[in-house]
Amino acid sequence: MVRDFSAEMVDEASLTMLLDAARRAPSAGNTQGTDLLVLEGRECEAYWEVTLGAERRTTFRWPGLLVAPVLCVVLVDPTAYVQRYSEPDKRHSGLGVDEAAWPVPYWFVDAGAAAEAILLGATASGLGACLFGLFDHERAVLERFDVPAHYRGVCTIAIGHPGDDARASRSTLRTKRSLESVVHRGRW
Ligand SMILES: Cc1cc2nc3c(=O)[nH]c(=O)nc-3n(C[C@H](O)[C@H](O)[C@H](O)COP(=O)(O)O)c2cc1C
Repeated sequence: MVRDFSAEMVDEASLTMLLDAARRAPSAGNTQGTDLLVLEGRECEAYWEVTLGAERRTTFRWPGLLVAPVLCVVLVDPTAYVQRYSEPDKRHSGLGVDEAAWPVPYWFVDAGAAAEAILLGATASGLGACLFGLFDHERAVLERFDVPAHYRGVCTIAIGHPGDDARASRSTLRTKRSLESVVHRGRW
């Protein structure tokens, strides 16, 4: 994750490549229930106005995050999944009844896969990206940008050219777990 950006724009072809990678991410039942709200320029400013008041912005720990030229809000439509799984080839799963029937809500899994495609694509093309949550601003952001009310806002990804201030966040200071501690071959 990059939390400090230069003001340099992301060229349109690179941005389209990242967004298209997200479009082609895997999805349960090929539901494709993920949408991308892409904000630039004054729209980014409006995003920060909703999520981080002017007062808080003056003391925000990551001022370089606020200049990212692109913000991509990853949205999902849970109702599309319920609808898809009520179709004849999926009806036997019982997941077409309602959202509560899903032991694992695959719309969030699919949003994660789409987000990862953007993160990997950004890194591979020399750009920087940072995924962060909407937390208690989810509804306000969706309303501000006219997203239909049945969508969920899963996360926002800042995209741009990395700046010079590559300070680690507190989370980043946690070392990565070793491969041996993560992988359980054959049994736990
Ligand atoms: C679901 C999710 C939520 C995250 N939320 C935030 C966040 O709100 N703010 C932030 O600075 N980083 C956030 N991160 C980034 C993590 O802190 C980061 O991935 C982790 O520290 C590992 O660092 P690396 O991705 O640079 O290897 C989030 C990552 C994920 C996957």
